[in-house]
Amino acid sequence: MTRTFFVGGNFKMNGSLDKVKSIVEGLNAGSLPSDVEVVISPPFPYLKWAKDHLTASTVEIAAQNSFDRGDGAFTGEVSVAQIKDVGSTWVILGHSERRTILKESDEFIADKTKYALDNGLKVILCIGETLEERQKDETLTVCNRQLDAVIAKVSDWSDIVVAYEPVWAIGTGLAATPDDAQDVHSKIRAHLAEKIGEKQAEGVRILYGGSVNGKNATTFNGKPDIDGYLVGGASLKPEFLDIIKSRA
Ligand code: PGA
Repeated sequence: MTRTFFVGGNFKMNGSLDKVKSIVEGLNAGSLPSDVEVVISPPFPYLKWAKDHLTASTVEIAAQNSFDRGDGAFTGEVSVAQIKDVGSTWVILGHSERRTILKESDEFIADKTKYALDNGLKVILCIGETLEERQKDETLTVCNRQLDAVIAKVSDWSDIVVAYEPVWAIGTGLAATPDDAQDVHSKIRAHLAEKIGEKQAEGVRILYGGSVNGKNATTFNGKPDIDGYLVGGASLKPEFLDIIKSRA
């Protein structure tokens, strides 16, 4: 089973229209490989601008959040229909910053995932343990629990990409080692195989996220269960292109 290499750029709550313009221009001029799926995720106000100005057919747009219900009286939320209306095809759900800072529960994330999928958005589903959980050897317990909440509600995983993002590696400059990441990824895939079947599990892309940069990206090459990256800080910099090209 060949899984298309996937590189996501999560801008988080960073940047400005000028910044997004320069990133999009960089991608447009970047001679991107045709066999790498790239998804960039600017803040909501810039989704449409980015969509309208990206020229490479391999680059799609993700929102950084969506709600679990349709349009209505939900002040401050953004609907799946609105996200699709401006040309986005993906949404990032379950990011640790939303789990920890916004206190989103496994259950709520599962509801949002189901709603997004049912209404035609593909989902980058983030999971991962905190440093404290890792030190207590709970990495897989946590990842499996976060996955199980979604498994309970979603049976077709063909439009989900899982991003394993250990919280201690996000924005710290301290990426997981390629061996450690591969070890967790293979166990995540084994867990998926047990719960949603081997065939589906083989097709699910599992991205690594946490301090991936232009220099360390190639060190993950050759790891069979690492199908790409979800990149935060480095997606705002020219080195994002090096990460996109790191499997070449
Ligand atoms: P980072 O963030 O690359 O800045 O560590 C990754 C993420 O949060 O998706």
